[in-house]
Amino acid sequence: MTHDYAYETVKVVLDDGIAWVTLNRPAKRNAISPLVNREMRQVLDELELDEAAGVIVLTGEGEAFSAGMDLKEYFRETEGESALVQARVRRGATDWMWRRLMHYPKPTIAMVNGWCFGGAFTPLVACDLAIAADEATFGLSEINWGIIPAGNVTRAVAQVMNHRDSLYYIMTGETFGGRKAAEMGLVNRSVPLAELRAATEALARTLLSKNPTVLRHAKSAFKFVESLDWDTSEAMLGAMAASAASQDPERGRKRGMTQFLDEKSYRPGLEGYRREG
Ligand code: COA
Repeated sequence: MTHDYAYETVKVVLDDGIAWVTLNRPAKRNAISPLVNREMRQVLDELELDEAAGVIVLTGEGEAFSAGMDLKEYFRETEGESALVQARVRRGATDWMWRRLMHYPKPTIAMVNGWCFGGAFTPLVACDLAIAADEATFGLSEINWGIIPAGNVTRAVAQVMNHRDSLYYIMTGETFGGRKAAEMGLVNRSVPLAELRAATEALARTLLSKNPTVLRHAKSAFKFVESLDWDTSEAMLGAMAASAASQDPERGRKRGMTQFLDEKSYRPGLEGYRREG
């Protein structure tokens, strides 16, 4: 069933299997406010069960991907609140920015179209894949206004960037562009802004062509085992493989083997098995 995605701060467009989820506060450079957090939680909940959405692309309207947490609505206006209320506001952000996105059951791609600062690094890293515009500008600006990169931004950076680069940008607040982001592993690749949407769509279409049950297990397995020792990891991967096989309605493993071993009709090293018929 396709829902009517009517939100104030997030735009959702479903196009042939791709859900384009756009942070939609361009006048505020898509800064992440408590309302954005509330709406993004709802959007992700709804897209999870929407059969029209096979891949999620997260991006921003206008000149920004996102200028990070909203300094006014997320920080200043919650300063006087009790510790419990503040904790709830913080949880409202992290709930979707990493917990939800990290193990989202559908593939996710961050498409970084412009400014990307501070808190925006968390959903950027939590998305499975990321493509940036060469012209995008990234920065861990927290040091410039008197806070540390919290909200798990530092953890996210440590996940994908190396020790020296992470500390350099955390400690200097210096900005960098899309190409540098790709070179450091913060995004998969960087392309000219004019090609960004087409490159993202091509990647999304590749993901849409894969077995969705297996894709869901494959990405989740990777994220789980990163922090495990080898023995626990082997057990976890075995359980995930069994889960994928038992839940897969298209019986991909069997079909792939039949097409390769019996029909000799494809080479799994080079292409996917035929999913229909
Ligand atoms: N929180 C709240 N409002 C923000 C914001 C943020 N993180 N980032 C931008 N805005 C608002 C500005 O206050 C301004 O609002 P106004 O028009 O009502 O005055 C509007 O967005 C445009 O900002 P402006 O600075 O004029 O745009 P710019 O294109 O010249 O610069 C940035 C864009 C992103 C470089 C600049 O806005 C900036 O440095 N933002 C803060 C980034 C940051 O440190 N984020 C980390 C937070 S964790």
